[in-house]
Amino acid sequence: MKPPIAIIGGSGVKSIIKGEEKIIGTPYGPTPTLTIGQVKGREAIYLPRHGEGHTAPPHKVNYRANIWGLKNLGVERIVATNAVGAIDTTLSPGEIVIPSDLIDFTKSRRGTFYDGSPVTHIDVSEPYCPTLRHAIASAGSDNKKNLRNDIVMACTEGPRYETPAEIRMLKTLGGGIVGMTGAPEAFLAREQEICYASISFISNMAAGLQRTLSAKEVEEKGRETGQILNKILIEAIGKIPDTREGCSCGRALAQAQLNKPEVKEQTC
Ligand code: HPA
Repeated sequence: MKPPIAIIGGSGVKSIIKGEEKIIGTPYGPTPTLTIGQVKGREAIYLPRHGEGHTAPPHKVNYRANIWGLKNLGVERIVATNAVGAIDTTLSPGEIVIPSDLIDFTKSRRGTFYDGSPVTHIDVSEPYCPTLRHAIASAGSDNKKNLRNDIVMACTEGPRYETPAEIRMLKTLGGGIVGMTGAPEAFLAREQEICYASISFISNMAAGLQRTLSAKEVEEKGRETGQILNKILIEAIGKIPDTREGCSCGRALAQAQLNKPEVKEQTC
């Protein structure tokens, strides 16, 4: 049996999986209700990031429980979806992009599984799995969507939207889109050696680039974009290779931990 693939759904993305419902207990608390079923003939798990009925705000999402719960079910690949605002003015609402890098501007979130020994410094030189990003891009092309895949996501703490000055700062730093859920999710997945990539849909221009921002507008754009997003998501899952030879996500801990005696190869 191949390991299941997980989808972490953000705002506006409906479950594309029908099946058994399950809550997993973790050292960090329970996961939301997961749906376990099939997509493109592969076992797939849907995790609603904000819980059922969208009750957890971005800064209160239990990211560690979510990632731990999926790891516990044998998940090796996660495709996440996020609603984002566009900082890059060549992007526009309704567009779907594949982030290539991430700037973490969150403040209060528990961002690691490694609070003690072994001291662990995970490498995030390539925070999103290249194989998953390629699968998403290729699913986009099949749907005649040339998805931009060179966009840097900035993750803010929320739950408020940003000020125009904050957006100008993020732009100076290279941010192309801004959302509230990209971090620490991507980093926690890497700590668990799970491949992770994101499909982000642009619900609005960021603060200062349109008149005002509204949560209702984000929700409505999510509903409008949902169908094509789900289509790309389903096809991307079908394109994920069975084995993880194309990336090093599954070996992320090998060089990351201090104070671990090296296993010496036996010579006799
Ligand atoms: N900022 C932060 N998060 C968001 C935005 C935004 O403009 N749009 C959707 N999620």
